[in-house]
Amino acid sequence: MAYTYDYYKKSADYVREVSGGFQPELGIVLGTGLGEYDRNVQDPIEIPYSDIPNFLVSTAPDHAGKLILGTIEGHKVCCMSGRFHSYEGYDFEALAAPVRVMQILGIKRLILTNAAGAINTDYQAGDIMVIKDHIKFMGLSPLAGPNIPEFGPRFFDTGNMYDRDLRRIALDCADATTLNIHEGIYFFFAGPQYESPAEIRAARILGGDAAGMSTVTEALTAAHSKIPVLGLSVMTNMAAGVLDQPLTSEEVTETSLRVAGEFEKYFTEILRRIPCENC
Ligand code: HPA
Repeated sequence: MAYTYDYYKKSADYVREVSGGFQPELGIVLGTGLGEYDRNVQDPIEIPYSDIPNFLVSTAPDHAGKLILGTIEGHKVCCMSGRFHSYEGYDFEALAAPVRVMQILGIKRLILTNAAGAINTDYQAGDIMVIKDHIKFMGLSPLAGPNIPEFGPRFFDTGNMYDRDLRRIALDCADATTLNIHEGIYFFFAGPQYESPAEIRAARILGGDAAGMSTVTEALTAAHSKIPVLGLSVMTNMAAGVLDQPLTSEEVTETSLRVAGEFEKYFTEILRRIPCENC
């Protein structure tokens, strides 16, 4: 499937029409750990993904699957409650769609949140990692296929993909939370299986601090258009092989629920400190 600008514009046009021309300046993808955060959106306009033409349908458990437009802490936001993952069977190219649509709607910044397993043994379950950079050793990209010049050039820089200024704000907000805040490298694994202990040892040697199955396609799509990204990972578990116990999705859910309240407070503080265009 070759995607075009008009393909994504059809989705964005629908969202614009349903929302009465609402123009978000901040895109937010809510992953595990912030799944309920969308209730903080004021004057929300909710649009189920399934209503949006040319959009994808979320199949992951606990992901609601809707776009929510409104205001948080003065920011005009477009929130994705529920995201798409390659382990659901989507091609990497298909995973560009959500960010493309938010770009056409006008976002100037993008915040990505996720759950991840701690590779770094100095981290603990419940800690937060501000993503400094990522490693994706897979010969796949959301930007494969014909380039769409309206979004960006064929070849593009990813050196400041996780924006320095946004990272600084997130790290400074450590003073407003009891959670431990780290800065580190997100190591992408496609899943859906959790990693093998040998994969995690290899990832650690290569510089990975946390293992996760999302986020990189969204960050790369944003980088193509020079949209600054902030990535936040909640360590829901120690990665495979760190502890002598099997990994379960119950542990992931349990930790994310345990820290959800504090993570939400931390996240709100970050939003307060991010300069906003029109407030
Ligand atoms: N690995 C990959 N993805 C994850 C993990 C993990 O250990 N925990 C939560 N998401």
